[in-house]
Amino acid sequence: MLETLPIASWTGPYAPEVKARAVEALENGGVLFFPNLPFQLSEKEKSFLDAGVSDGKAKNISRDPDGTLQSTSLTGKRAQALGAMMGRFADSTSSLIGDLLPYREIERARTSYRPVQVKGRSQSKISDDRLLHIDAFPSRPMRGRRILRFFANVAPSSPRHWHVGQPFEDFAKSFLPRIGPDLPGKSWLYEKLGVTRGRRSRYDELMLSLHDTAKLDDNFQKNSPHQKVDFPPGCCWLVFTDMVLHAALGGEFALEQTFHLDIDQMAEPARAPIKVLERLSGKALA
Ligand code: SIN
Ligand code: FE
Repeated sequence: MLETLPIASWTGPYAPEVKARAVEALENGGVLFFPNLPFQLSEKEKSFLDAGVSDGKAKNISRDPDGTLQSTSLTGKRAQALGAMMGRFADSTSSLIGDLLPYREIERARTSYRPVQVKGRSQSKISDDRLLHIDAFPSRPMRGRRILRFFANVAPSSPRHWHVGQPFEDFAKSFLPRIGPDLPGKSWLYEKLGVTRGRRSRYDELMLSLHDTAKLDDNFQKNSPHQKVDFPPGCCWLVFTDMVLHAALGGEFALEQTFHLDIDQMAEPARAPIKVLERLSGKALA
């Protein structure tokens, strides 16, 4: 489940054996673990290791690819410096992915900084990422495209605690029969009202339902198979979060970079969640 890679540099070239292992494990629902790849902060940037840099409203501070920063309490030069740190993380992860993986076209999406201790954060079940889930975006329809996320634990001393759940296909098999049909006209209406950017496909509705149903199922949360993983300070990990059931139970100060990927870029597109769900349901979903 955890595929440990010996990489210690943000730029390649990387050994062909390592590259082959990386794409195979990643597309198979593994978590690529980089224990020797710290994302280094400068002395000045270490002042951002403080929950107070968040505005206290959103879970994460986010930076759009155009540099727009959201949900930070910082202003002026300090906000600029935080944005620059996040931009450097975006550049570093892009360069690593470009050199490690065979994906020639990959879209760099948002960067997030997560300075708030996960443990003890209170929120609704649906938005509680301490519960096992797959990622699905409520407002951004993916229509089958993949969500790939690169994480770095930049905390000086605390690990980030995760649970990683059962294989996607096992999960989908047990939850699909519980999901009802889409409400006619809902995706059209959501698009018209601006709730979604573009129209949700049946795939998006299904993924959101799987996300919500899993989080609301106490029995599943308690009893479904999962492994505990501790990501130590100074490490990174990379995972298709639309396929790997995950929960973050504790930790503070993580950086995260999201990428979107068309499934025709994959070495084996048949492994994409949309393909698995189409096979299980017997229907085209996007
Ligand atoms: C999540 O993607 O569900 C949360 C992961 C994290 O913040 O460690
Ligand atoms: Fe998640």
